[in-house]
Amino acid sequence: MTDFLFVKATLPKAGALVLPLAEGFSLSGLAAEADAACQGAIARGLEAAGFKGKKGQSCTLWAPGAHLSRVVAIGLGAAAEAAAVEAAGGALWPLVSAEPEAVVDAAALEAPLVATLAFGARLRGYRFDKYRTREAAEDKPKLVRLAFATTAPEAAKAAWQPLSAIADGVFLTRDLVSEPPNVLTPAEMAERCKGLEKLGVQVEILGPKEMRKLGFGALLGVAQGSAQEPRMVVMRWKGAPQGSTAAPVAFIGKGVTFDTGGISIKPAGGMEDMKWDMAGAGTVIGLMAALAGRKAKVDAVGLVGLVENMPSGTAQRPGDVVTTYSGQTVEVINTDAEGRLVLADVLWYARERFQPRFMVDLATLTGAIIIALGHEHAGLFANDDALSQQLTAAGAAVGEKLWRMPLGDAYDKQIKSDIADMKNVGGRPGGSITAAQFLQRFIDTKEGHTPWAHLDIAGTAWATKDSATVPKGATAFGVRLLDRLVADHYEG
Ligand code: BES
Ligand code: MN
Ligand code: ZN
Repeated sequence: MTDFLFVKATLPKAGALVLPLAEGFSLSGLAAEADAACQGAIARGLEAAGFKGKKGQSCTLWAPGAHLSRVVAIGLGAAAEAAAVEAAGGALWPLVSAEPEAVVDAAALEAPLVATLAFGARLRGYRFDKYRTREAAEDKPKLVRLAFATTAPEAAKAAWQPLSAIADGVFLTRDLVSEPPNVLTPAEMAERCKGLEKLGVQVEILGPKEMRKLGFGALLGVAQGSAQEPRMVVMRWKGAPQGSTAAPVAFIGKGVTFDTGGISIKPAGGMEDMKWDMAGAGTVIGLMAALAGRKAKVDAVGLVGLVENMPSGTAQRPGDVVTTYSGQTVEVINTDAEGRLVLADVLWYARERFQPRFMVDLATLTGAIIIALGHEHAGLFANDDALSQQLTAAGAAVGEKLWRMPLGDAYDKQIKSDIADMKNVGGRPGGSITAAQFLQRFIDTKEGHTPWAHLDIAGTAWATKDSATVPKGATAFGVRLLDRLVADHYEG
């Protein structure tokens, strides 16, 4: 674990010195002091390397003198705006993580940007290594102390507080999504939700008995093939100011702890990826931790449906008809279209119980969204333009991009069933859209309109390569986005 510190500028006696530099920079303050102590080797080195401070540019100078083992320059671009500063923070991490100590000269940045720089570094420094028992010491990060030298350490610390809580939420999500499926069963995942109680979140866990009583026929149909019992968890954070009468905001997540496809079984190749079919739920849990951790001034509820989708003698069959909590019946054509079945019951429950201001669900719902959007954007489906715009803007601000997809009656017709109210698949054309149409049938009712958005994160929940602030593996896509949505529009 690395300590992140905010301190007044002093030249380090050893280890690494990091210089975040904007285009057209000249070495000043700590950087100039270091350069003088190194007889000008830093300025000469940067010049020789062609380092100009451009966005994405970096340069390591080894042992330039004055007992420093390295000086790392990181480009901030021309404007040094928040996104570039955050990315620079991410970029500096792998360049110094082999040092026990590093000092970052952040004197040229305003306090909020100093915190942003640290945030980028912290997000990039995430590792899931609990199952490595034989890792060589030289392969592990050694950084115990990362100090940001600033003219306003107190203000930087204050700005760091909420960001640090958000990073904690992101890490909780990444941990959950990274866990292997033999460890992270629905019951275990519900148990991890209980951990949020220490942040002041109220946590209720419903088991199969309670869900049977409620009539969760769709969720229980998915769960019935597994030896693992399903759970639904309801998390509540009450942070709105006293006397606030606003309804809570609601986040709902798909939590399939492993998706074999069930009787409509998936091919073997790559099936291990289906351990992260609980990423929607993992994101909701991390989001609740972030909101509570930074004491967001909002009432928020998070609901997750946790099941394992397995084939067995008790598994549901293609052709089964299940009765959902809403009363609507579903003909299960393909047992691999299970996420929408789980969400159907949880969405209906969330709206009925909480009458929320809006609902956003997250799910690794369809392979088709990866075909449509690749790994760059998550699919956004919404019955409300204002909510859709707020989400898109929040995503752009934090670098978790959304792309809105259409909904409409013509797509809805694709899920008509010959014997029930609907079927759970609509054929190959528009596969992500018909999945969203299915969900929408559990949102809109005669009584009224709840603003709702569905984020299909199948293409963005897991990364196969590093990016600035997201090491490869579980991304926690959605935690920052939804935290930002709340911060920008629903607090106070
Ligand atoms: N969990 C999958 C979707 C998925 C696929 C997520 C690849 C991440 C990567 C989902 O439950 C599923 O199996 N969807 C089917 C739907 C089909 C049967 C209509 C799919 O996308 O193939
Ligand atoms: Mn599936
Ligand atoms: Zn699935």
